[in-house]
Order: sequence, then C-alpha cells, then structure tokens
Amino acid sequence: MEHIKYAVELDSEDDASAGFEDISFVHNALPELRYDEVDCSCIFMGKKLHAPLMINAITGGHAGVAEINRGLARVAAETGIAMAVGSQRAALDDPDVRSTFAVAREENPKGLLLANLNALCTPEEANQAIEMIGADGIQLHLNAGQELVMREGETNFKGIGKNIEHLIKNLPVPVLVKEVGFGMSREVVTALFEAGVRYIDVSGRGGTNFAAIEGRRGGVAGMHLKKWGIPTAISLLEATSAGLPINIVASGGLRSSLDMALALAAGASLTAIAGPFLKVLVEKGEDRLISLVGELIAGLKQLMLLTGAANVQALMGKPIIITGYTAEWLQRRGIDVNLYACRQI
Ligand SMILES: Cc1cc2nc3c(=O)[nH]c(=O)nc-3n(C[C@H](O)[C@H](O)[C@H](O)COP(=O)(O)O)c2cc1C
Repeated sequence: MEHIKYAVELDSEDDASAGFEDISFVHNALPELRYDEVDCSCIFMGKKLHAPLMINAITGGHAGVAEINRGLARVAAETGIAMAVGSQRAALDDPDVRSTFAVAREENPKGLLLANLNALCTPEEANQAIEMIGADGIQLHLNAGQELVMREGETNFKGIGKNIEHLIKNLPVPVLVKEVGFGMSREVVTALFEAGVRYIDVSGRGGTNFAAIEGRRGGVAGMHLKKWGIPTAISLLEATSAGLPINIVASGGLRSSLDMALALAAGASLTAIAGPFLKVLVEKGEDRLISLVGELIAGLKQLMLLTGAANVQALMGKPIIITGYTAEWLQRRGIDVNLYACRQI
C-alpha cells in the first residue's frame, strides 16, 4: 500500500533521465504506406498482442489493491496488451490475499499475463505463483538497489544466478528476468543468457524511482541512490549490443509513443510502463487509462509510418542516431553507435 501511495505521489524532482532524448529517428518524407495498414501487432511468449506494450509489475497482496489489479487487467483485455502482476510473495505467505492477484486472470482470461516473484524464490514457490493466475510466463525481479534501502530489505544476494538457472530448468513457462528501475549492463545480460534466460526486462533508471520511494517510506537513507543506476536507453543498447538471441523488454521511464518507438528501434521486442499507468488508473479511472493506451498505440503507428516501417519488425531495422551522454557512454564501453545510424532508411 505504501509503494502505491508513494509511487503515485512521486514528482518530477524524483526523475532522472531515461536517456531517450539522446536518440533520434531519421524522418522519411516518402513513406509509401497507408496509416491503416501499419501493423503494430507482435507475438510475445507465444501470444499475439495488439501492440508491443505491457502494463509492468505493480501490485497485489493487500485487500486494498485488488481493485487496482482488476482495473489494470480490464485495460489489458480491452486494449490487447500484456500485463504482469506485482510480487506474489504476500500471497505465498497469506492465502487470503491470493484473490487480489487471481482477479487479473478472471478479468482477462485470454490475455498474456505474467507472474512475479523475487529471483531467489524456489521452484515450488514459482509454480504456485504461476498457477495462482494461470500465468503464461513468470517475471523474476532483481532489486538489490531497492532491498538495500528498504526498511525490511534483503541484504544477501549470493547465489541468485545459480538459482535462476535452476528455476529455468524446473518451470513449465518462460522466465523473464527484470530489474525494477536500476537497469542492467551488457555483462549482466550476457551472464543471464548463459544461465539460460531468454527474456530480459532491463528496467532502467529514469522512471519510477525506488530509492526515492523507499526514502519516503523511511528507508535506510535511500537518497544517495536516487540517481543510481543505468539509464534505460543506455541499458537497452548495452543489452541489444551483446547480439544475443534474447527477447529484450524496455521499461523504466518510457513515457511516450516516441520513447516506445525508439526502444523498439534500439532492439527491444516489447515496451512496458508501470508508474504512469498506475497513476492514471488511481487518479482518473479505467476509461482514461484505456484512452491513454490507445493514444500511445496510435502515436506509435504514426511514428512507424513516418519512418517507413509497415510493421514492428521493420521498425526494429530503422536507423537511429545516438548522441550526447548516451553516445559517449556507449563509445567508452566499446559499443559502435554508428552501426545504428548506418542502417537503410
Ligand atoms: C507501485 C509500484 C510497485 C511495483 N512493484 C513491483 C513488483 O512487485 N515487482 C517488480 O518486478 N516490479 C515492481 N515495480 C517496478 C515496475 O515493474 C517497473 O520495473 C518500474 O516501475 C519502472 O517502470 P516505470 O518507470 O514505467 O514505472 C513496481 C512499480 C511500481 C510503480
């Protein structure tokens, strides 16, 4: 409940940049496409989505948030996008709150729905979480930055890689490993790939700021981590530059159709948003959130047309120009930013 309260209250003071202002498309004045034939649908974890967008993990586990999951699930069903529930740990400890997660499947029987637990869980716990919501896949979150500053946080992060490897071998659905707003480096993405992971959400810096949230909850001086982490645009390019056969999700501070389109061109197969969707649902209601998702998707289709991309696959191959801090970071890390600029229009 406190996470919901403070996430909704976060203001621009708590924002760091996600870095998308450093990336640009090359406008195509001669697109030779019709808007209504631009196809932004995609397949993710074997299910077709109306657009490459997900309502990322937010909540569940308290009677007071069941209506939030109900609303988010209805929006996902209505708009044809994916959804993940928040950490199901509370429901493993207290069966009375299982319904606050299960409601997400009740409201969206056919949609792509992901379970969520900490990456240190056991296969039995993960299986319970999957069964609880009839999940198509499970998100395992990595959140050392949050745990360290959380009053009741975990401080032992040893053995997570091996545990993930063990979980992948013993779970019936695809496993997606995600951060919660601090991002992932190319080395971490490569290590996860070697552990068998094929779905990664970099969830970088620049959006919902858990150091700020835990700071407000009276955490252990979380403020020194307020600007900690890898901005999402950089994290995404670190991840995709590894050149691995892996599905990358971009999240953390994506706030517009342009951010979504740039993330897809930078190599993401799905984009995800959490904080702003929660805020709109809580403050303005389900219909407004449905409109917002519709506006984001319509904007994405317009940008696809203006880059000459008839579908998401084509958008992923369009040139992008990377400048500023993001370019400097990537160059110093040995990543060739010109490769993205030299793609065919
Ligand atoms: C209120 C709130 C609760 C969250 N709880 C979880 C969680 O339980 N598990 C998780 O993996 N991520 C959780 N997240 C993180 C989001 O899934 C996402 O990675 C992060 O907020 C960055 O995206 P954003 O900037 O669009 O919010 C939560 C986010 C919010 C706003």
